[in-house]
Amino acid sequence: MTNDLAPGDAEGDGVTTLRVGVLGCGNVGAALVDIVRTRADAVEQRTGIRLEIARVAVRNMSAPRDVEVGDDVLTHHALDVVTDPDIDLVVESIGGIEPARELILAALAHGKPVVTANKELLANVGAELYAAADAAGRDLLFEAAVAAGIPFVRVLRESLYGEPITRVLGIINGTTNYILTKMTDAVVAGGDADYGAALKDAQALGFAERDPTADVEGYDAGAKAAIIATVAFGKKVVAGDVYHQGISDVTASDLAIARRLGYVVKMLGIVERDPDSDEISVRVHPAMVPDQHPLATVRDSFNAVFVEGDYVDSALFYGRGAGGGPTASAVFGDLIDAAKNLRSGTHGSVGTLGKATIKPIDETSAEYLLGLDVADQPGVLHAVTGVFSKHGVSIRAAEQEGNGPDARLVFITHEAREKDVQATVRELNGLDVVYKVGGLIRVIGN
Ligand code: HSE
Repeated sequence: MTNDLAPGDAEGDGVTTLRVGVLGCGNVGAALVDIVRTRADAVEQRTGIRLEIARVAVRNMSAPRDVEVGDDVLTHHALDVVTDPDIDLVVESIGGIEPARELILAALAHGKPVVTANKELLANVGAELYAAADAAGRDLLFEAAVAAGIPFVRVLRESLYGEPITRVLGIINGTTNYILTKMTDAVVAGGDADYGAALKDAQALGFAERDPTADVEGYDAGAKAAIIATVAFGKKVVAGDVYHQGISDVTASDLAIARRLGYVVKMLGIVERDPDSDEISVRVHPAMVPDQHPLATVRDSFNAVFVEGDYVDSALFYGRGAGGGPTASAVFGDLIDAAKNLRSGTHGSVGTLGKATIKPIDETSAEYLLGLDVADQPGVLHAVTGVFSKHGVSIRAAEQEGNGPDARLVFITHEAREKDVQATVRELNGLDVVYKVGGLIRVIGN
């Protein structure tokens, strides 16, 4: 800095006071306001920066809040906050795409660094916002948007910035991990592993929303995967590029057979770069993970992200991927970073993003688990394996579970192309002796 007084250092006491405008005061906004107030002295001692919650913009002024906000701080006018010359930094915690996008663009245009936890926004219009931040010469930080309390975005943006990352495998949705953990525990205990009961349990504990679609069908994890792919590979990847398969088709029988074969079923977000073609594959689906793999031990609502790169080999990051406290912790870390950068007149950047070539899911390969409810009569196995053979899908293991009306054939394939496996499934669906084709579960992580 060239001037003697830092911004906000009107008293010349060496302390820079920075005024924070918070947009939204739900779970995350309220937890953030609380942390800033509680930790302001400690931050000032270590950094010489005093963070002050100056404005909190809310939609409903009379709604109950988890934190006390004075009338002089509370406002209904978010646009006034992001354009107010007395506000130095903005935290966006309202969620959704609009008006969050417009407000962030306005804040950056007015020279204010922005911190956000908004994965939906970044997975759809992140590239526009990163470019706006660079043009304004200000930070746009978003650690909390992916796996909340796990400091993983910063690892990609900084520690592994130069690393040729080949693959990131993550348990990046706590709700689905909780449900699958409960179902697996029930299988191990020899009890009833019912998806519906596990979901109800997750809802009662507050993990799953009343409408659980975003979590159980993989949209939440898909948004996070798009952000991970963008930052890991330096390419524009959006939510619409992500292949989704949820967990609602996963059965107790799938979990039991996975266990017998030495696997655990986990819902994974996977981003992968083909080193030859540079194509990127981004997908979210249940997967059989070998029980020796570090991700197999990640239980309940915990998240973990496993990164593979040419030089770093592999690295694992583990923690709380949801909840007001862990999310606000990540936002707070970003806020301090943005404050320090603002004081020193610098900012971070995800860098120039190239256009991504997305590998269609049809062209990806894996081993697959496939369960079929079938008629228990001579010739059925022959008819079914004939379909696999016709599409060039080689079977690694097969077994029959149950007899008579409960007969189920379970197959694990050798590595096969998705397109061929899907063609196999389509044809199996048309066989009279096949009553139901279960969901595919890919084998991952070897
Ligand atoms: N609902 C998410 C989860 C947290 O269950 O992990 C927010 O992304």
